[in-house]
Amino acid sequence: MRNRQVLLKSRPVGIPQAEHFEIVETPVPALRAGQVLVRNLYLSVEPAMRGWVNAAANYSDPVPVGAVMRSLAAGRIEASEHPDWKPGDLVCGMFGWQDYAAVDAASIGPATFGRRVTETDLPLSLSLGVLGLNGLTAYFGLLEVAGPKPGDTVVVSTAAGSVGSAVGQIAKLSGCRTVGIAGGPDKVRQCIETFGYDAAIDYKAGDLAQRLRDACPAGVDVYFDNTSGPISDAVMVQLAIGARVAICGTAAVANWDPIPAGPRIERHLLVKRARIQGFVIFDWTSRFPHALARLADWVRSGRLRYLEEVLEGIEQAPDAIAGLYRGENLGKRLIRIAS
Ligand SMILES: NC(=O)c1ccc[n+]([C@@H]2O[C@H](COP(=O)([O-])OP(=O)(O)OC[C@H]3O[C@@H](n4cnc5c(N)ncnc54)[C@H](OP(=O)(O)O)[C@@H]3O)[C@@H](O)[C@H]2O)c1
Repeated sequence: MRNRQVLLKSRPVGIPQAEHFEIVETPVPALRAGQVLVRNLYLSVEPAMRGWVNAAANYSDPVPVGAVMRSLAAGRIEASEHPDWKPGDLVCGMFGWQDYAAVDAASIGPATFGRRVTETDLPLSLSLGVLGLNGLTAYFGLLEVAGPKPGDTVVVSTAAGSVGSAVGQIAKLSGCRTVGIAGGPDKVRQCIETFGYDAAIDYKAGDLAQRLRDACPAGVDVYFDNTSGPISDAVMVQLAIGARVAICGTAAVANWDPIPAGPRIERHLLVKRARIQGFVIFDWTSRFPHALARLADWVRSGRLRYLEEVLEGIEQAPDAIAGLYRGENLGKRLIRIAS
């Protein structure tokens, strides 16, 4: 048994590209007392992984050069030196871009997005998407930070993506009218046909400001911001009185050093009595189990739909983050490395 691992080879500035990673083979690690050996089946690819490898200050320490790339993964316990876990148990957590991870069982918990996967009636891969980081981010970011009210017009950027698609649907479940912003006609079609948005805008097709005015004639009550950049610049000036903006992600900004300049919006926020709040999903770990149960119920009843884009083989990993920033993914991007 060999362990293929994707290591961070050099530190990127901005978006990590394939050349910043290398794949090596090492022996499968031996277990110490209290550890479990996880056979990863799916590796996750997140836009946030850009921040995890950059030197600039973030909410977590940068992955050291030469280390296994930090990532969420879902898999099966192969061997256990911990009484609570047995071979065959399904699990997800921060297991890294590698075939096998020797993990302290005590570290598998909400703080690392880890858990025993008990929804055996649903695909294991969902624990990395709609029933994992992405679904939880949509759930708490929308319901707790933005506070949607029935009748609100909710605008979502990266609306066809993993977080955005769940935000749009949870907003609909909350009685809102939803407008998605996504790149290209295929994603716009997905927004309407798969995720039930009331309107969807292709931001790459030009004249975003006019399209937004057409889609939101009474203004934007809630903006769930996954991009920052030009999309947000266009949305901010169309906020309605009392609008709430939840800053979830900054996918459109390639580099925060130096901090890019943009339009000044303070006067506009003042006039609109608007509120902007950023958030990091770690702050709700104690409430993950309840939220996951609700999300799973919605998935089972068909009220929360999801799409996955599954790349085959660990060889796909080095270029996978850059591909997210090229907008290639149609749904939650995963890498399947074993069946
Ligand atoms: N705050 C938190 O705690 C938290 C937790 C998880 C995720 N997030 C954030 O949530 C956002 C969505 O994450 P996700 O996993 O669901 O990813 P995703 O939306 O499935 O994939 C990323 C998408 O970003 C869009 N994008 C890339 N470059 C762009 C650009 N220059 N301008 C506009 N859009 C661009 C692309 O969609 P288009 O083709 O539509 O442009 C791409 O498909 C990310 O910003 C992520 O960092 C935040």
